[in-house]
Amino acid sequence: MNAQELIATAAAMVGTDKGLLAMDESTATCNKRFAALGIAQTEEMRRAYRDMIVTAPGLGRSIGGAILADETIRQRTLAGVPFAQALAGAGIIPGIKVDAGAKELAGHPGEKITEGLDGLRERLAEYRGLGARFAKWRAVITIGDAIPGRACIAANAHALARYAALCQEAGIVPIVEPEVLMDGAHTLARCAVVTEETLHAVFAQLNKQGVLLEGMVLKPNMVLSALDCAQQGGVDEVADATLRVLRRCVPGAVPAIAFLSGGQSAGLASARLNAMHVRAGSSLPWQLTFSFARAIQQPALELWRGDSANVGAAQQALSHRAACNAAARQGQYAEAMERQGR
Ligand code: 13P
Repeated sequence: MNAQELIATAAAMVGTDKGLLAMDESTATCNKRFAALGIAQTEEMRRAYRDMIVTAPGLGRSIGGAILADETIRQRTLAGVPFAQALAGAGIIPGIKVDAGAKELAGHPGEKITEGLDGLRERLAEYRGLGARFAKWRAVITIGDAIPGRACIAANAHALARYAALCQEAGIVPIVEPEVLMDGAHTLARCAVVTEETLHAVFAQLNKQGVLLEGMVLKPNMVLSALDCAQQGGVDEVADATLRVLRRCVPGAVPAIAFLSGGQSAGLASARLNAMHVRAGSSLPWQLTFSFARAIQQPALELWRGDSANVGAAQQALSHRAACNAAARQGQYAEAMERQGR
């Protein structure tokens, strides 16, 4: 493991004013989002869509790293440049999603375990050769009446730590993503309890596996009321609850925390991240930023709709959302920004 390289990459991914763009939807998920808008679900369409994203002018001002899907890292842009190379040329570090998806956890109805450890060492070596300097593995924790159980949290924490150790061995910075889903009707308080338990388990396993905390990035959920909960937490309530949990669980040695958006609206995701910075001031031990997919891409996808005539408008929307989030991660986002630059 080259610790200095890992530390330098982790720092460069988020800088002090940037975040990450997740554009690593699996083929199935990407197709689902295309289908909802009547876009053809083909490899060429996925390539054209991702070309629109990586060629958006000025994206590198707000985005320090982009997470690619396996299909994309093997493709070329419409101009014939490998996607990883196109990103690097735009000042954006290329990353790769390496998990094989969340599957049913045997014996635990309604709960999931993320697979993909078999053969991961070899795949990481290949991805590094293709230009990836960081990776992502997403674990999914579902809240329900009697879940999550200890088995689900323990199994996912263990897999995340095994993945992270393999990444660091390969000179690749692991993004460790334990996502507590916002589906359901649970309260913000319940989300806080489950997120705290999950993060404690994850850091215990990272410690056991000898993962270098200085050379990783944590990608957690914000602490939120579930989508169907009648009592929705306000922006400041979400910010305070999220900061409380993170301060309790995440060692100061971790250089960066980059949130997933998880189904929040684009505007709320920005407002909540901003509120965390406004309320914490300069007191945070880690960079606190974003690693959004939907909360950056969705407005652009809705404008693009698979038509090359819409590329310019879609790119403007994409860059605008990225800029809103880059402002939010410095506590400088204001709702008025939503009316500018679109
Ligand atoms: P969302 O921001 O759409 O939740 O996606 C982030 C991500 O990468 C999930 O793994």
